Amino acid sequence: MSTPEPGWPLRRIVLLPAVLFVIVSASVFTLAKLHLAKPPATSSGPVTLGDPKRGQIVFKQTCGGCHGMSAQGGVGPRLAGARITVDDAKTQIDSGGGIMPARLVTGPPEDDVLAYLSTIVAK
Ligand code: HEC
Repeated sequence: MSTPEPGWPLRRIVLLPAVLFVIVSASVFTLAKLHLAKPPATSSGPVTLGDPKRGQIVFKQTCGGCHGMSAQGGVGPRLAGARITVDDAKTQIDSGGGIMPARLVTGPPEDDVLAYLSTIVAK
């Protein structure tokens, strides 16, 4: 009578799930890191300030219709002299709120608008 090799079935029972576990968790981790389904609008990165003069022009064109040409308020709340940080303003611009659409400005024009806002909000 030949006895079956004692090590092999046990190794298969332990090793196969272990290998599968490593492969599956590695893929899940990689996919999670890739953020394939991450909505780009809600993420609010660090604030970099651009040029306030250009920002004022962008503001009048893009934001003035609701917030007033001098940010004195209108459909949207008054921003001049308001207690808002540029971080809050960036979050509002990136995510929108109420009837204010998200991402009216992005990239360098957004930095310019934030620079302009930093000159008119309450210090
Ligand atoms: C369609 C009208 C509209 C436009 C265009 C608009 N906003 Fe707004 N904004 C609003 C409204 C309404 C609110 C208040 C929303 C709320 O309660 O969440 C608001 C809120 C804000 C706030 C937060 C104010 C606070 O007191 O917390 C900031 C900052 C702001 N807007 C900046 C901007 C900038 C910068 C632009 C241009 C890129 C812009 N908005 C364009 C309507 C608008």
